Amino acid sequence: MMLSRLLYYSEEHDVGVHGVLRILDEARAGNQREQITGVLAFDRRWFLQCLEGSREVVTRKFLAIARDPRHTGVTLMAFEEVGERLFPDWSMGAINVIDRGSFHPPSMTASSALDTLCGLQAAGATM
Ligand SMILES: Cc1cc2nc3c(=O)[nH]c(=O)nc-3n(C[C@H](O)[C@H](O)[C@H](O)COP(=O)(O)O)c2cc1C
Repeated sequence: MMLSRLLYYSEEHDVGVHGVLRILDEARAGNQREQITGVLAFDRRWFLQCLEGSREVVTRKFLAIARDPRHTGVTLMAFEEVGERLFPDWSMGAINVIDRGSFHPPSMTASSALDTLCGLQAAGATM
């Protein structure tokens, strides 16, 4: 299997807290079936998501996610082959970003976005 990592951001569309919880339930169920792991960081405006798994499965999943009306402006930041997973323990970890002012994925490079996700995970922010 060619292990790949995909990173994108998008803008929430009429989601709200309960909506995010529902998305996470769906994501975890869907990802477990297909050995996808990753994290979804969110505040009240932005999503920043990392998906890891085989490149075929990750491609298909991303195309399905991109059509979801619960977000808009889906923007691919990176898609690369990798040696190992950064989030192997999470079918989809959730990171509720509290520090709103500085969470602005459109201004992040792919590597700074990944650093942000890893830093939040290291700080124990993943749920
Ligand atoms: C921001 C966001 C992230 C999502 N992440 C995932 C995910 O990681 N895995 C997944 O299976 N579905 C995810 N979904 C839900 C999918 O878009 C889709 O609704 C779900 O997979 C059900 O697909 P189905 O129509 O094939 O049953 C996400 C949706 C949004 C809005």
